[in-house]
Amino acid sequence: MSKVVIITGASSGIGLTTAKFLSSKGFKVYGISRRNTAGEDFVNYVGDVNDTENIKNIFEQIYKIEGSIDVVINNAGFGIAGAVEYASNENIEQIFNTNLIALVKLSSLAIKYLKLSKGKLINISSVAGILPIPFQACYSASKAGVLNFSLALDSEISRFGIKTTCILPGDTKTGFTKARVIENKEEGYDGHIKKSISKMENDEQKGLEPLIISKTILKVLKKKNPPLKITVGASYKFFVFLNRIMPTRLVNFLLKKIYG
Ligand SMILES: NC(=O)c1ccc[n+]([C@@H]2O[C@H](COP(=O)([O-])OP(=O)(O)OC[C@H]3O[C@@H](n4cnc5c(N)ncnc54)[C@H](OP(=O)(O)O)[C@@H]3O)[C@@H](O)[C@H]2O)c1
Repeated sequence: MSKVVIITGASSGIGLTTAKFLSSKGFKVYGISRRNTAGEDFVNYVGDVNDTENIKNIFEQIYKIEGSIDVVINNAGFGIAGAVEYASNENIEQIFNTNLIALVKLSSLAIKYLKLSKGKLINISSVAGILPIPFQACYSASKAGVLNFSLALDSEISRFGIKTTCILPGDTKTGFTKARVIENKEEGYDGHIKKSISKMENDEQKGLEPLIISKTILKVLKKKNPPLKITVGASYKFFVFLNRIMPTRLVNFLLKKIYG
């Protein structure tokens, strides 16, 4: 019988590519996103990950139909850029709610199903969760939260046979760049914000193909004991390695040079 996968944020980019890819590999895929771009490859439930009651109902419906939920991939997320000084409270709350709080709530909900299937939980963080980027401070913090949450959660739920993996993609060519919320106020930052945003946008649009992340996810699904965290992209793996051996002040200095 096909393994049943739920993936959030399946209407674009990494989520859409992964939903189609896993479906082509014989998985039964259900997406959850606010837009429906699923086509015939998989079923998409329209929903906002912040709407806890709706997400709970969607999980119940899928379990009723399939009798098992084997894999949950928390992928939905978006970016925000600009000076923290000028960030609106609404945007600050929205980024942490969608990227971190909703992911925590959804993981909590998923555990009872994954316990039954001895399944897998995959959380999509970002290299920015390890190498925090100026003018993307809230985004970086939300993704650092995803990483630490995943590691701690694994120690709680591995006893039930559930495997948790956190994936940290580097810049990836998706709808993420266009969807990014930008706080435009620049006063006092001497054009550094504009330069920084243009650099990050450029890096993303020249970045990894989303299929590379999908293939990494497939490898995780095939492994009996997948790694707890995986950085995707050769150069990003190298930067993450450097971060481990270099003093924090030096790493932050370099990040400021590149993005600050
Ligand atoms: N692209 C990169 O460079 C990069 C690098 C590292 C990590 N990531 C992470 O990878 C994940 C996927 O991003 P992507 O690059 O594929 O960007 P994307 O093309 O913009 O896709 C984002 C997906 O998240 C969904 N989403 C956003 N807010 C949602 C909400 N409130 N409820 C339900 N779904 C929501 C969107 O669907 P709807 O708008 O239809 O709801 C969309 O399907 C994100 O967590 C992102 O932080 C991306």
